[in-house]
Amino acid sequence: MSILVTGGAGFIGSHTCVELLEAGYDIIVLDNFYNSKSESLKRVKEITNKDLKFYECDIRDRKGLDEIFAKENVEAVIHFAGLKAVGESCQKPLEYYDNNIGGTVTLCEAMRDAGCKKIVFSSSATVYGSENISPLKETMKTGGTTNPYGTTKYYIEQILTDLYASDNEWSVVLLRYFNPIGAHESGRIGENPNGIPNNLMPYISQVAVGKRECLSVFGNDYDTHDGTGVRDYIHVVDLALGHIKALEKALKETGCNVYNLGTGKGYSVLDLVKAFEEASGVKINYKIAPRRDGDIATCYSDPSKAKEELGWVAERGLDKMCEDTWRWQSQNPDGF
Ligand code: NAD
Ligand code: UD1
Repeated sequence: MSILVTGGAGFIGSHTCVELLEAGYDIIVLDNFYNSKSESLKRVKEITNKDLKFYECDIRDRKGLDEIFAKENVEAVIHFAGLKAVGESCQKPLEYYDNNIGGTVTLCEAMRDAGCKKIVFSSSATVYGSENISPLKETMKTGGTTNPYGTTKYYIEQILTDLYASDNEWSVVLLRYFNPIGAHESGRIGENPNGIPNNLMPYISQVAVGKRECLSVFGNDYDTHDGTGVRDYIHVVDLALGHIKALEKALKETGCNVYNLGTGKGYSVLDLVKAFEEASGVKINYKIAPRRDGDIATCYSDPSKAKEELGWVAERGLDKMCEDTWRWQSQNPDGF
């Protein structure tokens, strides 16, 4: 029996593949390399000294999926594949709805017809919208998303919830990630954004390595301890380990469960800049810029449900997140 990992060549997927292999699972990775390179999977094998199966396939390709399910004995799916750039999703909503929602529906149809009914899905804290006050709890109202990317996550949560309601043989685990950063401590795999990074940590690390001149800090007049935005940064390896716990739950019992994966601690933009400077010994050039549209002051999780029900807690602190990001970025300035 194997675990199928869609989007397994990407940032979070590749780190999860390492932890799955280390935990003794046989894995099959499916990816169309839209936002990744095969080199990441080569390095997953190198880190673990274990093998994995790979199919270059699109989750919207029903025939391709059917062939994989016919050939392989897939026990459960961890579903990372999707498009994730918030700004781009506003320019290309149809592509986002097609890829993320259409792709997930096609994947679930293929799973159902193959009799594989266990899925762990990559959702996001973005489904909490902007109205709820942190710490965010799974029981809070979701929706009110402000961009097509966020809306795809909200709809997919709904689709998977409806799927379970229609057929209680399914095991669905929805994981709401907060802000994943960091890299594997080997420095061999990490985040590899295309073009100018949208997210804070890759921008900081590219300034540190000399690829970007200056970080723009989007707003210093928020109601936070230093006026800059506060987020719940989580080490990608902790996040990957959360998937192993979620998978164990899905393999053990049917149901539809949702968990926050975060640390429960919020750090500001300037806290992160300072922590990165300490970890790297490099001064980060930054300037204060206007607020970014759609941003909120503060967003962090209440991670207690994952602790109680999955036995999972994030263990790696901000210093380790910065240290590991720096090792990856400095040793691979141009990514894979
Ligand atoms: P990523 O872009 O690095 O990985 C996604 C992978 O999916 C890539 O390898 C890409 O090539 C592949 N892919 C995309 N569309 C595909 C398709 N139609 N068929 C097959 N493969 C396809 O992104 P990531 O940061 O690793 O994120 C993984 C998942 O987690 C995504 O669903 C993302 O929305 C979600 N998520 C990410 C974050 C974050 O900050 N990184 C936060 C919350 C949720
Ligand atoms: C963003 C997405 C969110 C997604 C998440 C994880 C938006 C509005 N939200 O969240 O949907 O789930 O990434 O991928 O894009 N910042 C700067 N300068 C920069 C970049 C960021 O000051 O160059 C600040 C932001 O204003 C924010 C913090 O850093 O306060 C974190 O930003 P970012 O890394 O983009 O994550 P989120 O906005 O939390």
